[in-house]
Amino acid sequence: MITQDISEIPQKLVDAANAVLDWHWQETEVGGVDWHMAVASDPDAMLVEACERQDAGEEGVIDPFWATTWRAAAGLDRFLQSIDVKGKSILELGCGTGHVGIAAAIRGADVVLTDGVEDPLHLVRMSSYPVRSRCQIQRLRFGQDELPERFPILLGSDVTYLRQLWPELLECIEQHLAPDGVVFLSDPCRIIGNEFREWIKPHPFDYVEHKVQMDDDPEHPIRVMELRREAVN
Ligand SMILES: C[S@@+](CC[C@H](N)C(=O)[O-])C[C@H]1O[C@@H](n2cnc3c(N)ncnc32)[C@H](O)[C@@H]1O
Repeated sequence: MITQDISEIPQKLVDAANAVLDWHWQETEVGGVDWHMAVASDPDAMLVEACERQDAGEEGVIDPFWATTWRAAAGLDRFLQSIDVKGKSILELGCGTGHVGIAAAIRGADVVLTDGVEDPLHLVRMSSYPVRSRCQIQRLRFGQDELPERFPILLGSDVTYLRQLWPELLECIEQHLAPDGVVFLSDPCRIIGNEFREWIKPHPFDYVEHKVQMDDDPEHPIRVMELRREAVN
């Protein structure tokens, strides 16, 4: 059983996070165990600041949606209970604060946790410290950055929320998915998620949908979209 002692986290990781944002520890269940996650202290203020910078004409400012804790991550974490990830090599896309990737590492997977922006990765380095031997953490922008490896499992929670992201997300999936690999994408059954489902269907993937019931609000399950490359005859 993996345990976490946040006092063991090297000061240099704490200093690096302190240098870029206000954050605090939040206790939550991750990978079936009680875990301390490092999270942003004021996500709303960060979103307002990003909007102001965009309004002022600054280019390349990405909305800090990573700063919020999304139910889709807890749902995908719960879904991972039903598949054997131990010893598997996994790539997480748009990991935000890293709930899903850390859950997979706690369950024994070797995980590359990635996000398009660097700030949340400072938090991920702290939260994943007890499972650091199974975690690699790095920046990866959909459609722009490519890793040399191909992965049997790709994970993404709440990364389908923006139509403009879909072509780049698909490119990233195509680049990193092993030929017989599987992608699991979760979302809280948003309308935009339904649109993504229709958009992805003509692409060469077999599509299966799962629903994960959540204790906090059983009437609003989390959807997990399972995508596998269509077999070529
Ligand atoms: C709604 S948040 C979800 C975060 C996390 N997966 C969760 O469920 O808590 C979407 C995530 O996608 C990341 N993202 C947005 N655009 C991206 C891009 N072009 N490349 C890589 N990541 C991106 C954001 O930085 C953010 O962390």
